[in-house]
Amino acid sequence: MRQVNLGIIGGGTVGGGVYQAVQRNGALMASRLGVSLSVRRVAVRDLKKARAVSFPAGLITADWRSVVADSEVDLIVELMGGTTTARQVVLAALKLGKPVVTANKALLSAHGEELFAAAQQHGTNLYYEASVAGGIPIIKVLREGLVGNRITRLFGIVNGTCNYILSRMKEEGADFAAALADAQRLGYAEAPPDLDVDGHDAAHKTGILASLAHGFWVNPKQIYTEGIRNITKQDIEFAAKLGYTIRLLGCVKVAAGVRRKQSAIQVSVYPVLVPNSHVLANVNGVFNAILVRGDVVGDTLYYGQGAGQDATASAVLSDLADAALDLKCGTKNRIPPFVPHERDGAVLPMDDVVSRYYVRLTVEDRPGVFAKIAGVLAKAKIGISSIIQPEGHNGVTVPVILMIHDAPNAAMRKALDAVAKLPVVKSAPVMIRVESFE
Ligand code: NAP
Ligand code: HSE
Repeated sequence: MRQVNLGIIGGGTVGGGVYQAVQRNGALMASRLGVSLSVRRVAVRDLKKARAVSFPAGLITADWRSVVADSEVDLIVELMGGTTTARQVVLAALKLGKPVVTANKALLSAHGEELFAAAQQHGTNLYYEASVAGGIPIIKVLREGLVGNRITRLFGIVNGTCNYILSRMKEEGADFAAALADAQRLGYAEAPPDLDVDGHDAAHKTGILASLAHGFWVNPKQIYTEGIRNITKQDIEFAAKLGYTIRLLGCVKVAAGVRRKQSAIQVSVYPVLVPNSHVLANVNGVFNAILVRGDVVGDTLYYGQGAGQDATASAVLSDLADAALDLKCGTKNRIPPFVPHERDGAVLPMDDVVSRYYVRLTVEDRPGVFAKIAGVLAKAKIGISSIIQPEGHNGVTVPVILMIHDAPNAAMRKALDAVAKLPVVKSAPVMIRVESFE
């Protein structure tokens, strides 16, 4: 049986998980694939570091270049993270014609175009199933399973750390910092975790999904991104009373009314009020879920653990199987990474994105306040669907919740700036978008 030798760069959470999973299920995979996988070398940064998963002395090295160059290593698995050295690792392997498997969404987001071009130029492949949504095989779904569909909508809970934090804040009233510390301890978070909580990791993943779904490279700079750092327990509680759950969502939508030939796609990441009746409101903890609507298939949903050692290792194994089969069969560029069917596609500017909104204001508790706020919004042609003053708040200032009808982002921001300047409004308005999933 053909044996494929792996060189793993990175022996941390994911690298350790992949090493263990190959030991555990390598024989099963060999019987299914007719190719066996063997871990030949593992590169780490610090040989002296204590490790949860220990590697045999003969495998481990601190010199990634020697692993990439090793003539007995057939396939490089980049699991080190970061974008600088990781880019060098991937390019060095591709230049040698060695296929590369990576879980590194930050790398793909920053340098994807260059890396995919290098793979094509050197007649090899770059595989990245583990880069989005942990154990959910969403890359394969978009590349293969739904290849006959135009994707009109994609909504994803794609960051396990944020979903874990928001779930714990809602379910237990947990403190943001304590929930984040637990996510780090459990191996979910990026280093640094700002990548998670500020929405950048979700933006990297949403960009990859948008590029796959729409066939043009989405520049990460064009992805409007908000994280969950400013989500308070108070907003989670008010949202719950109104029948909503707050989730960080990646949204990829063909903009309403835009003809497909000049497709403008909304690609964004921000916290969203999801109706409790919707399936995405019930995705809790480190789980991810992605709702994909195709013009032929309709709505489809993918659910599973979005981060962590074993879930991510499972996705890497899937790529290892594809890569090993491609090596065995001599297939090169079997499935182009981004089929350029919409080179003229464009990302819709966030100013033009239309949505509904939840707005929380802190106002003076006296007659006439509502009228003043409503007057400013009416002048901006922004419609209020309801105004609620939650009970049980007494004092000089009280919270007021406004639910706002569909409005473009730019108009809404401008109107809220004007509302914030009213003397009766006592702190910066909080605005969270509301999604109806139409
Ligand atoms: P991690 O636990 O921090 O592991 C990183 C590993 O890379 C460590 O073993 C480190 O060595 C090694 N490394 C760093 N610089 C190196 C260098 N110059 N040469 C050789 N080795 C080097 O990170 P992780 O959580 O496994 O994440 C790895 C990648 O998977 C990242 O791209 C991440 O975004 C992605 N990912 C992670 C998850 C998850 O749930 N954790 C899920 C999906 C994707 P030392 O051990 O000596 O420090
Ligand atoms: N930090 C990432 C997350 C890891 O929490 O989703 C999985 O990509």
